[in-house]
Amino acid sequence: MNAATARARAQAALTDLRPRPDDIAADAVAGLSRTPKRLPSKYFYDAEGSRLFEAITRQPEYYLTRTELALLEARMDTIAQAIGAGVHVVEFGSGSGRKTELLLDGLDDPVAYTSIEISRTALMDSVTRLSQDHPDVEMLPVCADFTAPVPLPAAARRASRTLVFFPGSTLGNFGDEEAVRLLASMRRTMGEDGCALVGIDLDKDPAVVEAAYNDLAGVTAAFTLNLLARLNREIGSDFDLDAFHHRAVYARERLRIETALVSERAQTVHVGGRAFAFEAGEAMDVEVSQKYTDASFAALARAAGLRVTHGWNDPQDWFGLRLLRPV
Ligand code: AVJ
Repeated sequence: MNAATARARAQAALTDLRPRPDDIAADAVAGLSRTPKRLPSKYFYDAEGSRLFEAITRQPEYYLTRTELALLEARMDTIAQAIGAGVHVVEFGSGSGRKTELLLDGLDDPVAYTSIEISRTALMDSVTRLSQDHPDVEMLPVCADFTAPVPLPAAARRASRTLVFFPGSTLGNFGDEEAVRLLASMRRTMGEDGCALVGIDLDKDPAVVEAAYNDLAGVTAAFTLNLLARLNREIGSDFDLDAFHHRAVYARERLRIETALVSERAQTVHVGGRAFAFEAGEAMDVEVSQKYTDASFAALARAAGLRVTHGWNDPQDWFGLRLLRPV
């Protein structure tokens, strides 16, 4: 199928739930008004941030993406067997494309593919690309915020069950409470006989984890600082990018990378018509990246009414895929 046909089909099949646009200024002001100050990590991904994240995945220290891809590739046959034939694949987010390609190629006759994505352009681009290589999979894109429950469009061919796909350890960017809420919403989406395939970054040598978020080329630091650049561009704030630096530490007692932007000096920043004072050395929280043990992930899933029925790790036990079903 050519690109124009694929795009036209994707447009025709779009379910647009018209997600409420983000209020970046209000969210920034609310976060900066807290103690300690914080900014939401979901705002990392403007065009420049998405480009920088792609660059992160190519850094030698950032093992997550390449380890997960290799794991999916190596274990796809077994994973496909555990999932079964004729499923409706529902991805939370539009993904990198590569992982989705592997899954759609490896599964036994998947009936339909739904990506739930808040950005209409990202959604259409990824679905257009996928449909060219998978003419037999019905593309049913949904433009919506996946953190709230989303009703699924029905496939023309009846699906055996729903498979929710949430790779990349993206779950780790949510706090515990939010992560449970998100897993519970996946449970609702998959239904009683559905399942979910979730990628999780595993607890390991803190030096390995920390290096992944402090690459020597400085791409992660640029990615973190782009958050401030984005706010300056989009809401007219006046963050001085030279007066903050990236700091990412593995807090092993909480099993998570905690990323902050640290103010180099005492300074005042203006955001949304308000002034915010920073002390020298003051840290503003911008991201958490949760890591998991088998026990901690099972407990999280359980709190959302899910149980782990299968698990696959890479040979070093650095990254895992877990298959979840309703309890
Ligand atoms: C996209 C959530 C998987 O937390 O590892 C990478 C984002 N932040 N480097 C992660 C990220 C800094 C990434 N995820």
